[in-house]
Amino acid sequence: MGQGSIVILTGAGISKESGLDTFRDADGIWNKVGIEDVATPEGFRRNPALVQSFYNDRRRQLESGEALPNPAHLALARLEEEWDGDVAVVTQNIDDLHERAGSKRVLHMHGELRKGRCQSCNAVFTWSGDMGADSICPSCRKAGALRPHIVWFGEIPLDMPQIFELLDQCGLFLSIGTSGNVYPAAGFVSHLRSKGLARTVELNLEPSQGATMFHETIYGPASQVVPEFVADLLNQG
Ligand code: APR
Repeated sequence: MGQGSIVILTGAGISKESGLDTFRDADGIWNKVGIEDVATPEGFRRNPALVQSFYNDRRRQLESGEALPNPAHLALARLEEEWDGDVAVVTQNIDDLHERAGSKRVLHMHGELRKGRCQSCNAVFTWSGDMGADSICPSCRKAGALRPHIVWFGEIPLDMPQIFELLDQCGLFLSIGTSGNVYPAAGFVSHLRSKGLARTVELNLEPSQGATMFHETIYGPASQVVPEFVADLLNQG
C-alpha cells in the first residue's frame, strides 16, 4: 500500500465510547425520538422548537467537554499524520471528535452540530450554545431564520462529488462504526467493489448490512480494534 490513499468512513459507533449515543442500537436515539419529528425538513417546519432543542442538547454534550475523542479517533489522526499517502475521513457523524482528535481532512456528509445555517441568506457559520427562534444570523442579522447545519432525511448529503472522487482514487477503504443502513454511505463499499481497485475493511462492533461485501472484517469496540489496525498498517509501511 505505502503511497496509496486511504478513505475512512465513520458512523456513530466510533463515538459511542466517547459517550455519544448511536442511532439504531438498543439504546439508540431512534428508539427514543422519531426521525420524522427531529431529522426531516417537515419535522422542522411542524415544530422548530422541538428540533432546535434536540440539537441544542446534543451540541451542549459536545461543548460541555462531556464527550471527548476516544482512542479510535486518536488512531485515525495518527494515521493521517504518519501515513505517506493521503488520508481522508468521510464521516456521517455531526460531532467534532475527529477534529478534536487532530484529524485535519474530515468531510461531514451529514453536516455538523457546531455549525448553523441561515434560511434567509444561506450563510453557513460556526455556532456554539443554544439556537432558537430568536437567534440572529451573524451574516444578514435576520432573527428567526436559523437552523442547524445538519443534513436531514430527504436532503442532499454534503460534498458528494468530492467524496466519490476520493473513493475512486483510494487504495484502502475503511468503514468504522456504521450499520450500513443509510445511503449514500451504505453504497460506498459496493461502489468500490464494482471498481475492483481498493482493499475494503469493515471495523465494527458487529456485522453491518454490507458486511459480506468487504474484503476483510474486524469486530470489536472501535477504541480497541481501530488503534490495533492502524498500528499494524503503519508497521507494514
Ligand atoms: N465500536 C464500534 N462500533 C460500534 C460501537 C463501538 N463501541 N458501538 C456500536 N457500534 C456499531 C453498531 O454495531 C452499529 O453497526 O456502530 C453502528 C451504529 O449504527 P447506527 O446507529 O445506525 O449509526 P450510523 O450507521 O452512523 O447511522 C447513519 O443514520 O440516522 C442517520 O444521520 C444519521 O448519520 C446517521 C446515519
